Amino acid sequence: MNTLAFYVHIPYCVRRCGYCDFNTYTPGELSITNDFSVTSRSYIDLLLREIEYAREISTATVVPTIFFGGGTPTLMESKDLGRVIASIGSHFELAGDAEITTEANPDTVTKEKLYDLRAAGFNRISFGMQSAVPHVLAALDRTHNPENVVKATTWAREVGFDEVSVDLIYGTAGESISDWETTLDTALSLPITHISAYALIVESGTKLGAQVKRGEVVMPDDDQTADKYLMADEKFTAAGFDWYELSNWSKPGSACRHNIAYWNGDNWWGAGAGAHSHIDGRRFWNVKHPAAYTQKVIESGNPMQEQEILTADEARSEEIMLQIRLATGIPLSSLSPNEQRSLPGFLADGYLLGPAWEGGSVILSQAGRLIADRIVREILL
Ligand SMILES: C[S@@+](CC[C@H](N)C(=O)[O-])C[C@H]1O[C@@H](n2cnc3c(N)ncnc32)[C@H](O)[C@@H]1O
Ligand code: SF4
Repeated sequence: MNTLAFYVHIPYCVRRCGYCDFNTYTPGELSITNDFSVTSRSYIDLLLREIEYAREISTATVVPTIFFGGGTPTLMESKDLGRVIASIGSHFELAGDAEITTEANPDTVTKEKLYDLRAAGFNRISFGMQSAVPHVLAALDRTHNPENVVKATTWAREVGFDEVSVDLIYGTAGESISDWETTLDTALSLPITHISAYALIVESGTKLGAQVKRGEVVMPDDDQTADKYLMADEKFTAAGFDWYELSNWSKPGSACRHNIAYWNGDNWWGAGAGAHSHIDGRRFWNVKHPAAYTQKVIESGNPMQEQEILTADEARSEEIMLQIRLATGIPLSSLSPNEQRSLPGFLADGYLLGPAWEGGSVILSQAGRLIADRIVREILL
C-alpha cells in the first residue's frame, strides 16, 4: 500500500525552556500577541495550503498516522487542529484505525481543551512531563507544577484518550538517583500506556548550553546517566511496559506507530515551519522561520528550503542507525559479511541478545543499548 505519514509542526511556545533547541518561537520573539487564537487561524490556513501542495506531488493514497509536534501544538485552537486532520482526510484516505497524536505541555491543557481535542479527531496524546521533582523542573527551566501532569493524564483518560504518553528527561544537573526514582515511580502511577525517557542533551546555542560552557552548570557523569537508564528500564518492564525503541516503552499494543514508521524509513510528509519530509529516498525540508514559511506558502504553496537525494551508502547507514534502535532489531541476513564482522565480539560480550542471534536477528541487549552508537559505528566501518 502506498502510505504517507504526516508530521505537523507547530512552532510556538509561551516561553522557551532553557535546554530546548527545537524550532519554536515565543510571542515576544515574533512580536505577536500572547493570545494565540489569531495566530492559530492564520498558521493553520497555511498548513492547509501545504497539504494541498503535498496532495499535488505525492502519489500516496493512505495516511496511517498523523503526529502534531512542536513547539506546543496545544496552543492552537482545537478546532483549527481539527481542520488539519479534516484536510488530510479529504485529500488522502485516512486509515480507519489512523493513529492521531498531539504533543502537549501539561500547563496548556484543561479538561475542556482535552475534550475538544478528542472531538477534533485526536486519539493519542503525549505530555511533556520531564520530571516529578520541583528542583529538577526548575533546573530544566520548566514552569509547570508536577500536579498538573496527574490532572492532565487523568482528564485525558476521562475524555476518551485510550493512548496517553509522557516524556521524561534524565541526567539534569543536580538530579540525584533518588530524584529520578521519584520521577519514575510518579510516572508509573499515572494512567498512561506509553513512556519516552530521554537523556538530557546539552545543545549549543541554548541557555543551558551557555551555562555549561561558562561552568555555571556541571552535568552529571555518563556512568550516573547510564545507571538512570537501567533503572528506568527495570522499573518500566516490571510495571508491564515493553521496551520497543532505545528511549521508548509501551503497554502491549500501545507502541507509537508514527515513530515506528519513521524508524522503519517509511515515507512521511512534514508540514509546517522547518518540518522535514522523506519520500522514496528523497529528503526535503521547509524554511525554518514562521515569517519565511508564511511568505513561501502564500507565494506558491511550496515552503521547501532544500532537498537531498541520499546515496545508496547514506541510505544504508541511516537504515542501520534507525533499525538497531528497535526491539525488532536487524535481520542478520540483511547485513553483508563486512557489516557482520564485529558482531560476534559484541555477542560474546553480552551486548546483543543470544536467543535473537540464534533466530537470525541482531537485537541489542540492555547493556548493548547503552553503547548503540558504538555498535553502529563498528557495523558501518
Ligand atoms: C517538542 S517537545 C514536547 C512537547 C512540549 N513542547 C513540551 O515540552 O511539553 C518534545 C520532547 O523532546 C524532549 N527534549 C527537548 N529538548 C531536549 C533535550 N535537549 N534533551 C533531551 N530531550 C529533549 C522533551 O522531553 C520534550 O518533551
Ligand atoms: S521543551 Fe517543549 S515547551 Fe519547552 S521550549 Fe521546547 S518545545 Fe517549547
